Amino acid sequence: MTILVTGATGNIGRRVVDGLVGAGQRVRAMVRDPQSARLPYGVEPVRADFTRPETWPGALDVVERVYLFPFACGTGFVEQAAAAGVRRFVVHSAAAAGFAPSDDPSALARHLEDERQAHRGLELEVEATGREWTHVRPGLLAANALGWVERIRAERTVREPYGRSGYPLVHEADVAEVAVAALLTDDHLGAAYTITGPAKVTQAEQAAAIGAAIRAEVRFEELTPAQARTQWLADGYPPEVADWLIELLAAAVDGPGALPPTRTYEEITGRPPRTFARWAQDHAADFLGEAA
Ligand SMILES: NC(=O)c1ccc[n+]([C@@H]2O[C@H](COP(=O)([O-])OP(=O)(O)OC[C@H]3O[C@@H](n4cnc5c(N)ncnc54)[C@H](OP(=O)(O)O)[C@@H]3O)[C@@H](O)[C@H]2O)c1
Repeated sequence: MTILVTGATGNIGRRVVDGLVGAGQRVRAMVRDPQSARLPYGVEPVRADFTRPETWPGALDVVERVYLFPFACGTGFVEQAAAAGVRRFVVHSAAAAGFAPSDDPSALARHLEDERQAHRGLELEVEATGREWTHVRPGLLAANALGWVERIRAERTVREPYGRSGYPLVHEADVAEVAVAALLTDDHLGAAYTITGPAKVTQAEQAAAIGAAIRAEVRFEELTPAQARTQWLADGYPPEVADWLIELLAAAVDGPGALPPTRTYEEITGRPPRTFARWAQDHAADFLGEAA
């Protein structure tokens, strides 16, 4: 059986590839640049792009199961995959796919509604094929903290608003483990899983955990929301992104904000989810600037 992993060079996709290889499976990795993909030994790279349908047949030939990256949404890839013989899709979705529709005009609510429509849209495309499916819906990824890499390497400092704000950030390895189980066993057919980390971890705690992982003090400097907005715009963020980011953080200062923790990972695997401290240890080399 050949399993196609799309988004195979991504944070989660790499772990899915590793998990499948570890389980002795035949894995094909869909990448746009096989030269730079750095795939494990034994994985078959295939050059394909969701925006270029002429590249899909080579990726889909004799494939039975697919780990489906969100960029497939609306491209026609899912239909073509089903027509080519794919019998099972495990969808890399997002927690927002499980949210109720909303017409709240706030920047955060509009962003979450866009996310909901995109990710639920892909899930519905897959369900419409009549093939087997599992939807894996991560909450906020711990990997978002990789956005701090440059400043931590250069200054050992994180500057953000709302130091007491935080979400139950999920380790990409936990998401990938569930995806691999859904690809390889029949235990998760027709399930939609929202997977988070174990508990809220504040922005200040994230900085401290990264500091502990790299054995250096990483200072957390709290910005006002206005200062943060100015910095993000200077960093090139669109204004609407700066707006929803501020609302996202403001919403989780005292409570769980838009996304409370779930127990899904533990219910599926019998183990507690990996902590942010563990994630920081696993990514210490990124923050130190060491080659992987
Ligand atoms: N950030 C969050 O907190 C969060 C939470 C829940 C869900 N999500 C969803 O998860 C996704 C990010 O997952 P991740 O962090 O694992 O991925 P990632 O590290 O951002 O990697 C992106 C992947 O997409 C591939 N890709 C990009 N453009 C492509 C194209 N045109 N055709 C084919 N492949 C393409 C890249 O492959 P190559 O460049 O090697 O070709 C790479 O493997 C987001 O899109 C978001 O929808 C994010």
